Amino acid sequence: PKAVPAPALSVLFSREEIQERVTQIGQQIDADYKGQSVVLVGVLKGAAIFLADLARSISVECTFDFVAVSSYGKGLNSSGAVKLIKDLDQSVEGRNVIVVEDILDTGITLGFLHQMFARHRPKSLRIAALLDKPSRRIQKISADYVGFSIPNQFVVGYGMDYAERFRNLPEICIMPPDFPE
Ligand code: PRP
Ligand code: MN
Ligand code: MG
Repeated sequence: PKAVPAPALSVLFSREEIQERVTQIGQQIDADYKGQSVVLVGVLKGAAIFLADLARSISVECTFDFVAVSSYGKGLNSSGAVKLIKDLDQSVEGRNVIVVEDILDTGITLGFLHQMFARHRPKSLRIAALLDKPSRRIQKISADYVGFSIPNQFVVGYGMDYAERFRNLPEICIMPPDFPE
């Protein structure tokens, strides 16, 4: 049988639009933490690209750490339970922590992580999410720094995946519901 060409992904945010917004967030972080240092905590894997760009838009002293959580299954019978797969390498007690996420969707992932990091007694604890889908929220949580608020569309690129694909796209694209497996 002849291969069916994959439908093209439509661009929601171009690399220039993303870069401009990330630069603005970095400037805001610089202003908010003037004379202090921050720990950026990236949530693997989706946040890797955003963290890399955000870190380079920040001038205050900054270190990185990463955590990984189990994908709790985005299906209908999702348990909503999140499991920590990789913990912080270093304690964040007394530090200014900024949790860096590509997208805040139901809020289950960040709800879990925020509660977990708060127990470490950081000096401050904030969330930076490049994308926010407020209409999908199940857990009551909001980000302190938001790149773009978007409607309920499945997006890929700039770290975000569809079955692990498309994380390397420099743009953020909309995945059509009829995209083949
Ligand atoms: C995605 C995304 C966020 C989370 C948001 O990660 O990167 O981490 O889901 O969803 P929520 O607000 O409903 O919890 P995913 O579990 O797909 O893992 P990945 O980052 O490795 O792609
Ligand atoms: Mn993720
Ligand atoms: Mg994913």
